[in-house]
Amino acid sequence: MIECRDLRKVYTNGDVETVALKGASFSIEKGEFVAIIGPSGSGKSTLMHILGALDSPTSGTYFLDGKEVSKLNDDELSDLRREKIGFVFQAFNLLPRTTVLRNVMLPLLYSNTTEEEREERAKVCLKYAGMEENKFYNLSNQLSGGQMQRVAIARSLMNNPAIILADEPTGNLDTKTSHIVMEAFQELHQKGHTIILITHEPEIAQFAQRVISIRDGIIESDIKKTKK
Ligand SMILES: Nc1ncnc2c1ncn2[C@@H]1O[C@H](COP(=O)(O)OP(=O)(O)OP(=O)(O)O)[C@@H](O)[C@H]1O
Ligand SMILES: [Mg+2]
Repeated sequence: MIECRDLRKVYTNGDVETVALKGASFSIEKGEFVAIIGPSGSGKSTLMHILGALDSPTSGTYFLDGKEVSKLNDDELSDLRREKIGFVFQAFNLLPRTTVLRNVMLPLLYSNTTEEEREERAKVCLKYAGMEENKFYNLSNQLSGGQMQRVAIARSLMNNPAIILADEPTGNLDTKTSHIVMEAFQELHQKGHTIILITHEPEIAQFAQRVISIRDGIIESDIKKTKK
């Protein structure tokens, strides 16, 4: 499903060059649950932005479902993101003073759906993400961190994405809430979604089936858990 060959990413700010990725090669099959782990500044978010077709590598190739992503134009890239990818960001990016339900409905606002259809779909996604039903009409800024994260997961599911990319989804959560959120990801994995999750906590990475470690822009190890 995903194939990366020798991805390099160089950021240039004035005279300063930062090499964030120094040649990363790996592939990910449909239905895998992969954690990408590494210290701060190691290139995790850079890699996720490339995988999510939000940014392009300086060199190297990225194939998604057999298509070379760097050869696509802007329209094709946004189609690809809309059809295949769900994003969960660390900062949630929820609209404040807006209900849980409205936040989740948002990604389909400009799609060919009625308000009722969007609402129905949002409720399904919220339940899927383990969100309590009595919170659907709360404002998003009146939720706990774990609840906000579940809303963000629900929102990422609205387009029924084959791939879910999550950047530090438990970064701001306590241990117990982190585990609840990770169990939600495990369930999505069992339902067939491909999940790629970034974290800097080894304990969180253990929820995945495969752990790719990255350090200084280089893949250090890539370990698959043997099935029990
Ligand atoms: N837009 C940018 N312009 C210049 N340098 C950048 C940019 N984005 C990231 N970098 C640099 O690239 C390197 C990798 O950054 P990246 O955000 O991928 O790290 P990360 O592994 O996600 O770290 P963290 O765990 O702190 O989120 C860092 O040295 C960072 O300063
Ligand atoms: Mg990051």
